[in-house]
Amino acid sequence: MSGMIEGKVKRISGPIIRAEGLGGAGLFDVVEVGEKRIIGEIVRLEKAEAVIQVYEDDTGLQVGALAASTGRPLSAKLGPGLMGTIYDGIQRPLEFLFKQSGAFMDPGARGEPLDSSKLWKFVPDPDLAAKIAAGEKVEAKPGMVLGSVKETESITCKIMVPPNTKGGTITFLAGEGDLNCDAIAAKTSRGEDISLAQWWPVRIPRPGAERLSPDQPLVTGERVIDVFFPLSKGGTAAIPGGFGTGKTMTQHAIAKWCDADVIIYIGCGERGNEMTDVLTEFPELQDPRTGRSLMERTILIANTSNMPVAAREVSIYTGVTLAEFYRDMGYHVAIMADSTSRWAEALRELSGRMEEMPAEEGFPAYLPTRLAEFYERAGRVRTLSGFEGSVSIIGAVSPPGGDFSEPVTQHTKRFIRCFWALDRDLANARHYPAISWIDSYSEYATEVQPWWEKVNPQWATSRQQALDLLKREQRLAEIVRLIGPDALPDDQRLVLIVAEILKDGFLQQNSFDDVDMYCVPAKQVRLLELIMNFFDRAELCIKLGAPLTKITSLPIRERLARLKSSVKNDELGGLEDFEGEMRTSMEELERSYRSKEML
Ligand SMILES: Nc1ncnc2c1ncn2[C@@H]1O[C@H](COP(=O)(O)OP(=O)(O)OP(=O)(O)O)[C@@H](O)[C@H]1O
Ligand SMILES: [Mg+2]
Repeated sequence: MSGMIEGKVKRISGPIIRAEGLGGAGLFDVVEVGEKRIIGEIVRLEKAEAVIQVYEDDTGLQVGALAASTGRPLSAKLGPGLMGTIYDGIQRPLEFLFKQSGAFMDPGARGEPLDSSKLWKFVPDPDLAAKIAAGEKVEAKPGMVLGSVKETESITCKIMVPPNTKGGTITFLAGEGDLNCDAIAAKTSRGEDISLAQWWPVRIPRPGAERLSPDQPLVTGERVIDVFFPLSKGGTAAIPGGFGTGKTMTQHAIAKWCDADVIIYIGCGERGNEMTDVLTEFPELQDPRTGRSLMERTILIANTSNMPVAAREVSIYTGVTLAEFYRDMGYHVAIMADSTSRWAEALRELSGRMEEMPAEEGFPAYLPTRLAEFYERAGRVRTLSGFEGSVSIIGAVSPPGGDFSEPVTQHTKRFIRCFWALDRDLANARHYPAISWIDSYSEYATEVQPWWEKVNPQWATSRQQALDLLKREQRLAEIVRLIGPDALPDDQRLVLIVAEILKDGFLQQNSFDDVDMYCVPAKQVRLLELIMNFFDRAELCIKLGAPLTKITSLPIRERLARLKSSVKNDELGGLEDFEGEMRTSMEELERSYRSKEML
């Protein structure tokens, strides 16, 4: 490789290597170490030495071995063929490595990020092709669309002029035909060859033209999220939760059902078997909108607990770079990172090996900076090409002992705007998703309100009423604990009863229920509206003097809590039928007490 600066390994401490003789190399340059040419990255430059973190197992590496800087930063290859692939943290295709080495990870094994033997049908942009054919001078602007290839049935990969182009005018545009990822799509007057695939340094955000406000919700189909704590397209969310409270299940449910076009799933330091679940389950899953395999719009990045920690550290930046690439084509991309705590532990281990001064709980002082560098790459933008695209980031956090006061949860809170706190008591009671309606919050609720009000004008009102009711229930529950429910007057006991209906019939959603695993927006709001409607009518009856038992014994009460599974997403008429019946039976009750009042 040209431009290589060579040095020698001086000290090895696990994944951290010190080398001398690399003066002139740049910070974050990629380095190849030893005979196996293990990949590493310069993470610190001191006077005579470079500190290198290596992404592969360096057992057997010896002092004195060659360390050669490639003179370029760690970069991802972006182009057709990403979709459906499973990568490790530095974009090595895992399936290729499996096949090649049989073992899990052969240090130094390469495997190209994109398969160059694969041909794609390139279709030049018709307008541009016409202009070039007519001899017009067309400037090569960042983001300009040169053409496209159909990457999968669900995704069309646009071939664009890279953001860091040297400019000039287009002197050549490839015609329609079968090309591989390294083939040239266009040439410029400044001598630049633009191939189907481009490289981008993973630690640097890809530019957009303009930031747009996050006023479109990322609809997940989970009611507690969409109605109570909504996430926007381009927004950021954290799912903190103790061991086994449902972080992974929630992320899987969102990955399967949310209305993003592209899913990037980063399995970060979790147990190997959890990742195996994703690897076996996702290809089987159907995309609810296209009926095709979910893998056609998914990229998986797997760095399980048995893989090198440095690759785990970089995996989230690789993931977000791939996400920005599809965002730039005008897609809505959702990233799931499971778990950012395991990622922070990798950071801590590397920092310890570098003998850095530890901050809170042994984490390096730059933990918040690194977290920010990840979450700040989320956003809804006008792309350089003029499209609208977004990257949403959902990070799971696994605080030790479920204690949210620890550093990773606390720092994460500074950079996210949606907090879905998983509650141990709810999980123990098998109330799933165990998202606490007391500790969670979303700062996007006002922004997405206009969108939801087009679905149903009652969205904000019902939402507020329900949240208020649950707060009242929480206060009453304290009293009940002290003196028992019988001491409460009927109107307060009604609050407890409706809160139960809200929990069972609205907030709980079983990922294994055929109907209720996903809930369409219209059904979400209507269900809530019906429950709040029931509350208003019941409250009125009690005011008129009806005893609570008259209300609790109404058959509609139980049916109300079961509507979520009894009414299918595409048969919402069932909700209207129910409303009719509810109105009849409650108006009857109301009338009978009104007439008593008259007497
Ligand atoms: N939405 C849900 N619907 C039904 N069951 C659920 C749901 N969420 C969680 N569970 C149950 O809880 C179990 C644990 O969930 P999960 O593996 O997602 O937890 P976790 O927080 O990721 O755990 P860990 O801390 O081990 O990573 C699941 O195996 C499942 O039985
Ligand atoms: Mg998990």
